[in-house]
Amino acid sequence: MTRRPLVTVILAAGKGTRMKSEKPKVLHAIGGRSMLGHVLAVTEQLGAQSTAVVIGPEMEAVRDEALRQAPGAGIWIQSAQDGTARAVLTARDALAGHSGDVLVLYADTPLLTADTLERMRARLDEGAGIVVLGFEAVDPAGYGRLLIDESGWLGAIREDKDASDGERCIRLCNSGVMAFRVDDLPALLDRVGNNNAKGEFYLTDVVEIASKNGLRAAVVECTEDEVLGVNARNQLAEAEAIFQNRARLSAMRDGATLIAPETVWFSYDTKIGRDVVVEPNVFFGPGVSVEDGVEIKANCYIEGTRIGRGARIGPFARLRPGADVGLKAHIGNFVEIKNAVIGVGAKVNHLTYMGDADVGAGANIGAGTIACNYDGFFKHRTQIGNNAFVGSNSSLVAPVTIGDGAYIGSGSVITKNVSADALALERSAQEERTGWAAKFRAIMTRRKAKAG
Ligand code: UD1
Ligand code: MG
Repeated sequence: MTRRPLVTVILAAGKGTRMKSEKPKVLHAIGGRSMLGHVLAVTEQLGAQSTAVVIGPEMEAVRDEALRQAPGAGIWIQSAQDGTARAVLTARDALAGHSGDVLVLYADTPLLTADTLERMRARLDEGAGIVVLGFEAVDPAGYGRLLIDESGWLGAIREDKDASDGERCIRLCNSGVMAFRVDDLPALLDRVGNNNAKGEFYLTDVVEIASKNGLRAAVVECTEDEVLGVNARNQLAEAEAIFQNRARLSAMRDGATLIAPETVWFSYDTKIGRDVVVEPNVFFGPGVSVEDGVEIKANCYIEGTRIGRGARIGPFARLRPGADVGLKAHIGNFVEIKNAVIGVGAKVNHLTYMGDADVGAGANIGAGTIACNYDGFFKHRTQIGNNAFVGSNSSLVAPVTIGDGAYIGSGSVITKNVSADALALERSAQEERTGWAAKFRAIMTRRKAKAG
């Protein structure tokens, strides 16, 4: 790994009109995190000393997201979107006082990996003055083409609109990601003009300027997938698909079994332990960690949850933020858990809602139990002791506490605390009328016969 200090400049001022969205493009999410968030995470992984994010005017939401993901980032506002070179110059003051390398990244290219960026920095070490990340495009239309000179260095980047027919046949394209030395960059940018088809100040022009001044530019290549730029919703879906495939492979590499990997959806931060078995159609929202040996049956939706070792979840379970499922606990079908701790070995197996609750170790929660946590104004907690037994179809009206080892008779509406080891029963006494059904049937049969 290169030890020189690193500054990153992330360009995010473009409007992203092709997304047809009220939301700025770079706030659209891949794997549950904004595209900008993904790029900031990579710069953090690289240990960047300083990160500058260039945004457009009236992009407060982008600024807020940048600062949420990277509180130390500098925010720079480019008032006119007159080209990528000008965008970098907007953040010129962010370079002052730094030395080492600069990486220029696009916030709409969320799948870049730290490994690739390290390869670019290593190329700077080997004597290149500028390094451009290139890729072989299946369809190069629209991209800047990389023009390699006779000696094998990069002589220039030609934007699609300015390219000759011959140059348009080149498939080696510019991803937009570039590496420079801090000391060279401002002077290079100052020399960029806007005499081109779009009348913009192109960052790509620095390559030609540099090579005419004895600075050599090199290309580091990566796959097209890694530099997929998101401009429209179909590309957002393509990027998501690539992200998901990476996440599935990484979960399997780390020792999880995914029976039908293409049907399991991960978030950027999902943690899956060893010998976890995930059946088809499971969705992991952000903030999930699954410990070793857990079994997740088909059709579960899980977010903001910790699942302890050896627990069994689903099928058809919904675990919402704040769910904490203990060691070897069971959460069964049509069960919803929210902001609730389910103790070691506890069982919540059928058709139940446990919201704002603490369920003790070894407790058994019968089918159809509801923790009534909300009175229309406030949320309240339900506490269920260790080894308590809650009979089916009970409503526990919070705030309420059920003591250790207590029994709740089926169908009870529990509004008062229940002592440890007691039985609480809240329902009318059962009545029995001997022979009533037989008499009733006889009367009705006669009536029906008369009526013909
Ligand atoms: C750019 C490259 C092209 C490359 C392609 C890869 C230039 C001149 N061209 O073209 O060689 O093949 O990316 O996708 O750099 N931005 C600003 N301020 C501006 C203009 C753009 O911040 O004034 C930001 C955009 O938000 C975006 C990035 O810079 O994140 C790239 O801009 P875009 O207009 O998409 O450039 P391309 O035409 O795609
Ligand atoms: Mg683009």
